[in-house]
Amino acid sequence: MTNTTGEIFKVTTFGSSHGKAIGAVIDGCPANLELCEEDIQIELDKRRPGVNELTTNRNESDKVEILSGVFDGKTDGTPITAIVFNKNKSSKDYEYLKNKPRPSHGDFTWISKYGNYDYYGGGRGSGRTTIGNVIGGAIAKKILSNYNIKVFAHVRQVGDIKAKEVDLDLIEEYSKSNNVRCADINAAKLMEKRILSLKENGNSVGGVVEVVTIGIPIGLGEPVFGKLDGEIAKALMNIGSVKGVEIGSGFKIAELTGREANDEFYIEGSNVKTSTNNSGGIIGGMSNGMPVIVRIAIKPTPSIGVLQRTVDLEDMKDVEIDIKGRHDPCICPRVTTVAESSLSMVLLDFMLRGGFIPPNNLNDKNK
Ligand SMILES: Cc1cc2nc3c(=O)[nH]c(=O)nc-3n(C[C@H](O)[C@H](O)[C@H](O)COP(=O)(O)O)c2cc1C
Repeated sequence: MTNTTGEIFKVTTFGSSHGKAIGAVIDGCPANLELCEEDIQIELDKRRPGVNELTTNRNESDKVEILSGVFDGKTDGTPITAIVFNKNKSSKDYEYLKNKPRPSHGDFTWISKYGNYDYYGGGRGSGRTTIGNVIGGAIAKKILSNYNIKVFAHVRQVGDIKAKEVDLDLIEEYSKSNNVRCADINAAKLMEKRILSLKENGNSVGGVVEVVTIGIPIGLGEPVFGKLDGEIAKALMNIGSVKGVEIGSGFKIAELTGREANDEFYIEGSNVKTSTNNSGGIIGGMSNGMPVIVRIAIKPTPSIGVLQRTVDLEDMKDVEIDIKGRHDPCICPRVTTVAESSLSMVLLDFMLRGGFIPPNNLNDKNK
């Protein structure tokens, strides 16, 4: 089982939903980055559960501690270990789930493959393990922002409620104004209503989250294996509940003609730009300098509070379960932070691999 991602900026995540702690070890972070717990906490707070009625009511403060890799307020080039202790566990809620896999959660495949499976709160298959992604992503984001690269995500769709297109410059500000994290304020109200009504009936809903990246230099990514779009798709599909990834016009491009789909070039000052961005900022596996636009399809939360059919794997018989515990009625709002983090880690890794950022020591950039 691999728990590590990245080639130079390597992030290993550890921990489970009801275990003692969750966290990440980051190896390959250049020395001399100013880093404190608050830099990571800001991002964890955006992912934190229990903050409003659209999220699970498991109330965790998710306070992070940095155990290693920072000396005198700066990274020293050694592995950074950051940890969050689980506080608000309610493991008894999961006793009845032993050997009874929840439909569409990872329980069945984990039990079948590994046998020894921590079924409390989904164990390591829980959305809670994305705390590790957010720790790695917070550090990646901080370095990227020093190079004027911005990564942000917002909710585009909940169920069949779609947000209208919002200006790129306004998305971040507008999506911060509501709990759904949708930049179309009117759609956000409808989405919130839909999520709450499904929650009341013990049901859940999925949606679409869009991640936007601006300021990426030309040439990030590799042309054959290691394409930027390929690595982004992989990183985002590695987040639990993500079932689809589209870049640029995505699946809609199949309906267009070449005349409609081609992104024509033009000169603006000393820059080459494209008049449209159907490619989503990536051509030939490499960034072309335009905003990188990625959308992910999120499935409805699998743990729902209605009677469902499943099996008892010990007695090998059909049974029914009514899932207890505390669950997000819609994963989309919280996944925005996780998606930003996963994408930031890919981008930073390519920045380091391509020599856009000195690999060992950020002081090198002044040499
Ligand atoms: C931030 C986040 C929160 C999640 N919250 C829940 C939850 O409360 N209940 C649940 O059943 N699944 C939740 N999930 C989804 C499961 O982790 C995921 O569906 C499960 O691991 C199965 O993996 P798959 O959907 O990728 O096949 C969450 C996922 C993320 C990323």
